[in-house]
Amino acid sequence: MQHVTFTQMQDGSAQDYQLLHSLEHAYIQALPDRLLSALQDLSESLPGYQISRLEHSLQSATRAEDDGADIDMVVAALLHDVGDVLAPDNHSQMAAAILRPYVRAEVTWVVEMHGLFQMQFYAHHLGKPNDGHLAYAQHPWFASCQRFCALYDQTSFDPAYASRPLSHFAPMVHTVFARKPFDPTVLQERAKA
Ligand SMILES: [Fe+2]
Ligand SMILES: [Fe+2]
Repeated sequence: MQHVTFTQMQDGSAQDYQLLHSLEHAYIQALPDRLLSALQDLSESLPGYQISRLEHSLQSATRAEDDGADIDMVVAALLHDVGDVLAPDNHSQMAAAILRPYVRAEVTWVVEMHGLFQMQFYAHHLGKPNDGHLAYAQHPWFASCQRFCALYDQTSFDPAYASRPLSHFAPMVHTVFARKPFDPTVLQERAKA
């Protein structure tokens, strides 16, 4: 494969950087496939539950789709725990960072906050506060995150539930991650107050 001439970035030529830019474009285009592969890897993460993290992700996405959620939210439900493998202590933020350039800002916020909001369902059993989410009660996307956690996330640990397979969601992942990154018409960010 073609490669650059430099061993230190400061010595690279315009031709070097044009080469890298074109190769990076092709690499970014394969992002959906890498994400689907990362989801497959969730079949081996976090022991102790009755179902795998992959099955939990599929169950969450299936429930979101059946709830009439849009493609951004369905893909977010599919990917919301993809950070478990590499960022176990801040997996919500990692998933949000992956999604942020490609989905509505509301969906990114929901994914980023889901770890905190999920604590309402279990943290008291571990002697921790379970009301941290209430600090965001006035936030315009509070109800959206509550819906995500109550209906899609905390319910999706059921070995008897028939989730749709990853192949069903793969075209949605390709559609979302083929978008132009940080397109304002996709992000629909709120005007700053
Ligand atoms: Fe999570
Ligand atoms: Fe989850």
